[in-house]
Amino acid sequence: MSDRHILTAVAWPYANGPRHIGHVSGFGVPSDVFSRYHRMAGDRVLMVSGTDEHGTPITVAADAEGITPRQIADRNNRIIVGDLQSLGLSYDLFTRTTTANHAQISQEIFLGLLKNGYVFPKTTLGAISPSTGRTLPDRYIEGTCPICGYDGARGDQCDNCGNQLDPVDLINPVSKINGEIPKFVEEEHYFLDLPAFTRALGDWLATRRSWRPNVLNFSVNLLEDLKPRSYTRDIDWGVPVPLDGWRDRPDKRIYVWFDAVVGYLSASIEWARRSGDPDAWRQWWQTPDADAYYFMGKDNIVFHSEIWPAQLLGYDGEGDKGGTPGSLGRLNLPTEVVSSEFLTMEGRKFSSSRNVVIYVRDFLARYDADALRYFIAVAGPENQDTDFTWAEFLRRNNDELVAGWGNLVNRTVSMAAKNVGAVPTAGELTDADRALLATTAGAFAPVGELLSRNRQKAAIGEAMRVVAEANKYLSDQAPWKLKEDPARRDTVLHTALQAIKDCNALLTPFLPHSAQQVHELLGGTGVWSVAPRVEEVTDLDDGSPYPIITGDYDQGQAGWGSTPLPPSGTPLAPPTPIFKKLDDSVVEEELRRLEEEE
Ligand code: MF3
Ligand code: ZN
Repeated sequence: MSDRHILTAVAWPYANGPRHIGHVSGFGVPSDVFSRYHRMAGDRVLMVSGTDEHGTPITVAADAEGITPRQIADRNNRIIVGDLQSLGLSYDLFTRTTTANHAQISQEIFLGLLKNGYVFPKTTLGAISPSTGRTLPDRYIEGTCPICGYDGARGDQCDNCGNQLDPVDLINPVSKINGEIPKFVEEEHYFLDLPAFTRALGDWLATRRSWRPNVLNFSVNLLEDLKPRSYTRDIDWGVPVPLDGWRDRPDKRIYVWFDAVVGYLSASIEWARRSGDPDAWRQWWQTPDADAYYFMGKDNIVFHSEIWPAQLLGYDGEGDKGGTPGSLGRLNLPTEVVSSEFLTMEGRKFSSSRNVVIYVRDFLARYDADALRYFIAVAGPENQDTDFTWAEFLRRNNDELVAGWGNLVNRTVSMAAKNVGAVPTAGELTDADRALLATTAGAFAPVGELLSRNRQKAAIGEAMRVVAEANKYLSDQAPWKLKEDPARRDTVLHTALQAIKDCNALLTPFLPHSAQQVHELLGGTGVWSVAPRVEEVTDLDDGSPYPIITGDYDQGQAGWGSTPLPPSGTPLAPPTPIFKKLDDSVVEEELRRLEEEE
């Protein structure tokens, strides 16, 4: 195992409802492909995330159902944990933002920033209801977005352009509760001094290499006009502000985004505490050559290339006002913010309220996880907004996964099982045999290089090109015509099986479930690619129960390189097909479902 430490920091899904395939195409599958590849290459990966349970989205959902935010969060946390595990996402720890550990670490970051002077109190205009005199939470104020002109913007955020807002910024604000015009009165809030990081953020961005150009450009442009952002909000659900006179106030909390991004750190610390070595997280956060890759959809970029790095710089004492690191010590900045674009659904924006949606759980009830993972890898929104259509899903599944890869495995293993009943013995290799094996073994370097740079579409394209070469080899050599020459037939089958073993390794980061099956079909035993598991745990500090995703990912045999087949004579059984061909009627059925639900 190498000494390279890689933190895979995966955006935290909101626990305001189940997640749909657009969500997991942004943060989910790409982060898992990346982590699995690096583990196979021998790197020490720590992959963390959890449900994002504070803030307006959760309280809005709770209000709508007449239950508490905690109940909403508990329920959706459990659903999301189940869905992400079913997809095979290999988190070392998937936790939640309502743990006591997370609150402590979020408060520690706040206090470190305060100590260094990067968080300051300021009197601002806060909204109250003129009829009741009570604070009007940001989410209950609606108006026109001052940035994009969208009419339904909320006091905390515009869902149309994605910008974070303050209620006073809204044009024509009205209360969603009773339609009255809110009154703005002076109130104290804490602010993060973003302008004090313009230089440090600029220096950091200037040293970033190989980011996707649109992500880097977007991030650099943000620096043109940094303004202080409020660190505290008028809301009753969130991490308490750790100051006398504030801690116990029911109506002031840390702004959800400013606690959520701290989750990467708090989850790393929770993972270390659960591992029995409470300092183990430091290897990913404090050694200078550790790398940290953050995965998300593009509406999250600002929080990962501006807000979170600013919080880290301030905590480290590296903004314009200087300072010294807080009690945790100096913390590393992101190596790369890896952002994908948006997925749309049959030409429209995903919308749970309009039922333009397919939830992960419904998808996985009808189709296999690897079929979805394949689609996302090969046709997902890596570099541009991309449309999911059922017709395209069906085509990719049937023509590429089933007819290309599945069929290669199926017909080769069938022939070997039927004719030999075991891994055949290879005789002398011909040029054609050697050429195929050189191609498959030679693919690890270029595919690995693409994966390390998160060019996942190109990587799977290259892997599938190698699969096509193996298919061509099999057709050219036609072992089924070699009944009279069993020695040559066995050599061809052995060569093809070895090529399959290599292709299977190349595809393992993308297709971990079927990779395990192919491993077994080839006569392999034990665990090839490790599946994540759900574990019921209790909060390390307050004892409340919750499920986590974790796993023993070091136990998998999969490595990044060609490895020999099991010895000749190892029994091979006739295979059952690994991938399911979908009937054309699926497209109509699914489209009907979409329409019915509207
Ligand atoms: N909950 C946010 C979303 O679903 C993402 C939060 S990422 C975090 O868009 F790092 F801030 F947690
Ligand atoms: Zn807007």
